[in-house]
Amino acid sequence: MQRDLHEQNRLSWNAATAAHNSHKGDQAAFFRAGGDTLFPEELELLGELEGVELLHLQCNAGQDTLSLARRGARATGVDISDEAIRFARELSAGSGIAAQFERADIYDWLREAGAAGRTFDRVFSSYGAIGWLSDLEAWGRGIARVLRPGGRFVLVEFHRAAMMQGEDLRPLQPYRSYGKPLHEPEGIGDYVAASGEGLLHGAPGEAGVQDFRNPHPTWEFAWGISDVVMALLDAGLTLEALREWPYSNGCLIHPGMRADENRRFHPPPGMPDLPLMFGVAARKG
Ligand SMILES: C[S@@+](CC[C@H](N)C(=O)[O-])C[C@H]1O[C@@H](n2cnc3c(N)ncnc32)[C@H](O)[C@@H]1O
Repeated sequence: MQRDLHEQNRLSWNAATAAHNSHKGDQAAFFRAGGDTLFPEELELLGELEGVELLHLQCNAGQDTLSLARRGARATGVDISDEAIRFARELSAGSGIAAQFERADIYDWLREAGAAGRTFDRVFSSYGAIGWLSDLEAWGRGIARVLRPGGRFVLVEFHRAAMMQGEDLRPLQPYRSYGKPLHEPEGIGDYVAASGEGLLHGAPGEAGVQDFRNPHPTWEFAWGISDVVMALLDAGLTLEALREWPYSNGCLIHPGMRADENRRFHPPPGMPDLPLMFGVAARKG
């Protein structure tokens, strides 16, 4: 794994996470009033959550982790960003929803958790996670090691096909980069502001940071669906489900997209269907 690049990404995520949360208003109040940030796609793949020991990898500021915890999971969120984990802990205290949050590069965390014998019924990751990972084989092995026998890994992720296109939806980025890092000098942008109500999950929101410019560049990795699935199979997991969806939950990937009443963004009228998200469920044993 390329730790130096992960560390550069950490700085970019610290800056972006503060900007993203600035638009979301009083999130503790949102959760105390019953707010929920999960979409039906991940809930269907995750299945029953009551009493389940759940690991949320790349949990960012913890909103999905807390939504899972409220459904009865004993949830642990892990993320490399200092700002994300600081915010998540504060939100857990302010909302009254218990969850554990640990700041670490997931590669270090999975190695240490595996060595310590920590195990989980579910491991979950979603929406913008895979592209930050420099070694998918190590990722798959780390997940397989911390899953209990019969436990399930669930991923709901933006499709690489969606990331390949420029604003006019013509191809711009490669489908796969075969482990080679892709440099983004502008770093992580303010996709929460760009998505309007899409990522507010029904909260009132507020203006927050305007015209955010991230001073920290990023390095990303383009993994195709076969990279993801093979990393899990090679680690000994069994594929239970593989799904593709022609819309993007909550996130405006391209300016021309339009949200429906369920906060799913679709390509502009006249465009043929594109695969914009995919989902995987894989079982251990
Ligand atoms: C798009 S966000 C994921 C959002 C998430 N689905 C949620 O619940 O809000 C991607 C996250 O990956 C984290 N990340 C990137 N590289 C990482 C690494 N090597 N180890 C741990 N977290 C990492 C970032 O800090 C960021 O919070």
